[in-house]
Amino acid sequence: NIPLLRLNDGHKIPAIGYGTYPLDNPQAEKAVREALDCGYRLFDTAANYGNESGVGTGLISYDVGRGDIFVTTKLRGRDQGYDSTLRAFDASLQRLKMSYIDLYLIHWPLPMKDQYVESWKALVQLQKDGRVRSIGVSNFLPEHIERIIDATGVTPAVNQIELHVDFAQKESLALHKKLGILTEAWSPLGRGSVLENPVVGRIAQHHNRTPAQILLRWIIQVGAVPLPKSAHPERMKKNIEVFDFELSDTDMRDLDALDGNNRTGPDPATCTEE
Ligand code: A2P
Repeated sequence: NIPLLRLNDGHKIPAIGYGTYPLDNPQAEKAVREALDCGYRLFDTAANYGNESGVGTGLISYDVGRGDIFVTTKLRGRDQGYDSTLRAFDASLQRLKMSYIDLYLIHWPLPMKDQYVESWKALVQLQKDGRVRSIGVSNFLPEHIERIIDATGVTPAVNQIELHVDFAQKESLALHKKLGILTEAWSPLGRGSVLENPVVGRIAQHHNRTPAQILLRWIIQVGAVPLPKSAHPERMKKNIEVFDFELSDTDMRDLDALDGNNRTGPDPATCTEE
């Protein structure tokens, strides 16, 4: 059983989730069922991934109550703007075949486009209308977060960012903590790049765990919700077995020291697509 955390709007979210990028519809449908078998209850998709339909089919065909799963999807860049956001939300809901979404995120701030404040106002409205439980953002830098709060008075429940030991995001984590925003970590394994790190290997051996479990536990202990993805059921299963051991302060310090400020994905300050 996966622990639940409380968001700043009172709703609860599982402490680890299953990421579905870059699975296509048939792959996502199958993977989501396997992930449910393993015990995952938080599922992360996006309009931009093109797999909402497969994720939805996988989820609704499984014998689990809607209230027992937590579904996140995201607004893509080309749909930013007030009215277009409302339309895009309806389309996502239809593809997922659901009557509500647990968490809707603005996928990227796209500062050049300068539509994210209007998009955020639309998310605030969707939440007021009861069509989405929680609203948040993704890949937002501190300046973007401050701007949407200034414009609306509404603090996002979540900011989903790239976060792993080689990209430890100290500044964002500190701001999120101060504002009560839950951090979600995409690419918590650094797209596999940190799995071979000897420091990670040594700590894994010491705890009799896999390197992936150490990296995911580090995310949990810095206070974030990791969203690992794997196409392999054996790894999926291992990746959520991270609530029955603890990294020591020394382990945490050694892992903190691996931060090379190395992102694997786009830079939110200059990203113009997604
Ligand atoms: P695979 O799907 O073949 O398991 P990230 O989540 O940081 O983007 O990393 C995802 C990558 O890490 C995927 O390529 C996935 O490959 C791999 N991966 C996921 N879990 C594990 C694991 N437990 N051990 C090794 N590799 C893993």
